[in-house]
Amino acid sequence: MDTARIERVRSNLKQAGLTQLLVVDPLSIWWLTGYYTAPMERFLGLYIGREGTPTLFANRLFPDPSGTGAHVVTFSDTEDPIPLISAVCDATSPLGVDKELAARWLVPLMQAGVASSFVLASSAVDDARALKDARERELMRAASAINDEAMGWLAEQVRPGVTELEVAEGLLGTYRSLGAEGYSFSPIVSFGANAADPHHAPDGTVLAAGDMVLFDVGCKRSWYCSDMTRTFFTAEPTDHQRAVYDAVLAANEAAEAIVRPGVTFAEIDLTARRIIEEAGWGPQFNHRLGHQIGLSEHEPGDVSSSHDEPVQPGMCFSIEPGIYLPGDMGVRIEDLVIVTEDGCEVLNRYPKGIQVLGH
Ligand code: GLY
Ligand code: MN
Ligand code: MN
Repeated sequence: MDTARIERVRSNLKQAGLTQLLVVDPLSIWWLTGYYTAPMERFLGLYIGREGTPTLFANRLFPDPSGTGAHVVTFSDTEDPIPLISAVCDATSPLGVDKELAARWLVPLMQAGVASSFVLASSAVDDARALKDARERELMRAASAINDEAMGWLAEQVRPGVTELEVAEGLLGTYRSLGAEGYSFSPIVSFGANAADPHHAPDGTVLAAGDMVLFDVGCKRSWYCSDMTRTFFTAEPTDHQRAVYDAVLAANEAAEAIVRPGVTFAEIDLTARRIIEEAGWGPQFNHRLGHQIGLSEHEPGDVSSSHDEPVQPGMCFSIEPGIYLPGDMGVRIEDLVIVTEDGCEVLNRYPKGIQVLGH
């Protein structure tokens, strides 16, 4: 049990006017208690009340959670956990619930009247998770260092006749040999016009002469995620390709240059967006600039024009502008940054200038 983290969550809860919270995101439970299991359809939850020791509810099929320091309430695989949760909750107060709490649990909890009302309150944990401490920053750096090396390996795989799937399938072993546990998300490998779909899934597309190549990849190491995109050329870029690439690169660099405490997420997004708009491709930059990241690849707190909160030291997020031209090409350049006391640290070191592979 990490009592300092529990107290940060309690402080956030208090600010929201709440005295009790049911956390079910397994990664949040791990972050708060050191206990991790993937419950699938079964119930796993951590109840945090106004004070005292939190209670962990776990199916007895799961690994034994008794070493966590939490009060532990277990139940058999055929037992209904709702009455057990009801016995711990304060029925006279609102209950904060996690955005990951499935309707199959939330509706019975409501019907059982375990609380006076139910309030979406995952931000009490999410806001605490967003501020990475020194050790977490070190782990984020380490995961991105592996990703930088993996990008070098990917660039070496680009040769005539290779397919997207062939390149993607070798990546897992490369990550593992570099010390990562696995992917942080399914890798995106896009040749030619496939890159106009920002989330293209690698398929049997064969690299054609002169195709541009986009890699958006990430690994997990010691629980923490990396996420980086680079776009390469396999022939000297045309003027059109160069203009698109230069606009995306300028947007990436300008956004990274203004990140410091107090600047809002919206200002960072708009800094990048204005550059792409002025270059004439505003509508073709059709997604937010970035997302926070940590134990999950996408964590709450978008880097977008609709998020007016200021960034704070310890926050980690992506800066990933792109331009997508269906039937033609797609370019995205993505780095992770950590906000420091007076600016930001860019975690990815893999070069961003135009690179023609095989030259
Ligand atoms: N890997 C998807 C993204 O960058 O958000
Ligand atoms: Mn990405
Ligand atoms: Mn990303």
